[in-house]
Amino acid sequence: MYGEIQVDKVSKAFGGVQALSEVSLTLRPGAVHGLVGANGAGKSTLIRVLAGAVLPDSGQILIDGKAVEIGSPTAASNLRLAFIHQEMSLIPGWDVLRNMALGIKPHTHAGIIDWRPLRARAQAVAERVGMQFSLTTLVDDLTTADQWLVMIGRALMGESRMIAMDEPTASLSAQEAGKLHAIIRSLTDDGEAVVFVSHRLDEVAGLCDDVTVFRDGKTVESAVGRKLSKPELVRAIVGGEVETVGRSESAAVVGEAVLAVESVSDRKKLRDVSLEVRAGEVVGLGGLVGAGRTELARIIYGAEKLTSGRVLYQGKPVRFAEPADAVAKGIGLVPEERRAQGIFLEESIAFNINIATISELRARWLPWLKMRKGRERAQAAADLVTVKAPNVGVKAGKLSGGNQQKVALARWMVDRPQLLILDEPSRGVDVGARAEIHRLVRQFAAEGSAVLAISSDNEELEVLCDRVVVMAEGRVAGELQGQEITQARILELSFNRESEGE
Ligand SMILES: Nc1ncnc2c1ncn2[C@@H]1O[C@H](COP(=O)(O)OP(=O)(O)OP(=O)(O)O)[C@@H](O)[C@H]1O
Ligand SMILES: [Mg+2]
Repeated sequence: MYGEIQVDKVSKAFGGVQALSEVSLTLRPGAVHGLVGANGAGKSTLIRVLAGAVLPDSGQILIDGKAVEIGSPTAASNLRLAFIHQEMSLIPGWDVLRNMALGIKPHTHAGIIDWRPLRARAQAVAERVGMQFSLTTLVDDLTTADQWLVMIGRALMGESRMIAMDEPTASLSAQEAGKLHAIIRSLTDDGEAVVFVSHRLDEVAGLCDDVTVFRDGKTVESAVGRKLSKPELVRAIVGGEVETVGRSESAAVVGEAVLAVESVSDRKKLRDVSLEVRAGEVVGLGGLVGAGRTELARIIYGAEKLTSGRVLYQGKPVRFAEPADAVAKGIGLVPEERRAQGIFLEESIAFNINIATISELRARWLPWLKMRKGRERAQAAADLVTVKAPNVGVKAGKLSGGNQQKVALARWMVDRPQLLILDEPSRGVDVGARAEIHRLVRQFAAEGSAVLAISSDNEELEVLCDRVVVMAEGRVAGELQGQEITQARILELSFNRESEGE
């Protein structure tokens, strides 16, 4: 049995931002330790300190009561500390096995890697986490949820005393998150310490034995061997109550169909999908990860091709050649993988927010005016969705994960697109900002925009949507309206493999 890991008064500043200030906590073997807090509170920074990726300015880490130096990722791994970081880092073009073996020192004979023991180990891990695909699959061909399984598998390849997971369930549906919880339980049963970061407070309340709440880099609450309820967590995180939007009682005035999908099929997954989104409506797209929702969205905005059926936008059949064409026609997009598709990390927040309309601004304003106008506009949008940064000139790559997501959303908050397509809008977003984003999206609809929102978070669908279309295995499994929209009904339909009439 391994001993405790203690974090003792650890501080870290980035420029003027105090990311951690005198944080202390104890990770107990056999326990799940939840780290919660608003976007930018310092959770990932603490994990990076444990991983040897960030050196603290002061404070120390003790293992079994002895101070240790974690000066590099190798040092962390020698101390048997394993990590799943917030931003996915699988190597594209490599198969599952090679991705899992990354960072493991292979046995070599005369410079040739002996893959046999690695493969055997990976196979055992694959079974443990329930991978339904072979080790030779290219990771590029996997769904987001399956890619997460590979990341988890990679962390389990070595022997570890602690495994820290930074928002592992953010991209997962309730079903898949449940599987991960079972894996975590089996790890703690074996005596490992688990650090678990999540903005889904229900799961934190259910899963975690110990919880530390961060606010602005400080510990504001810590519970050891005592569960905190969801309301207690919310209060500690935001330092007050959160006003959530209930579903709008008075159904919005619903207008013409802005988007109509008619019997769409594609080469891979989608079969005969039809749906409609009208002006003034928020339509949710629910279902398990891998049900075909992202594929459908990508077809609508021209990132993917359909093989039969058609898409109508404002009553006319359209086939966008690429997403930029859809944007030019007044469609706002917040894609699923913000790092790959949504955000330029090397550019400023202002650039990222203004990018959708940069050409328009260029045409209309003299350069100096354009810059000031652009900055003001970006600042206003960033404030709307509560991006936490000193100013909008900061590079997007310096923001915490949740704040990057807010930037991807902020882009559409000033100019109202006719149709807004959101893929997992509140992924990784904290509880306060989530309520704010929901309010903004509802307001969008109230002002006449049409919104299509994909979410694996059934609670989000319940509070946000006027109608929910549930997909299962590439087909529409059913549709719910108004009061029918409950988490239980969505879940039920998600598993509805046989649609009627088959
Ligand atoms: N490399 C960096 N350079 C500058 N600032 C940074 C850097 N890394 C983190 N920060 C800042 O440190 C603070 C804490 O960030 P951190 O990523 O730890 O937050 P978090 O709690 O993980 O948030 P989220 O829930 O959004 O993931 C933020 O204000 C962030 O902007
Ligand atoms: Mg983080």
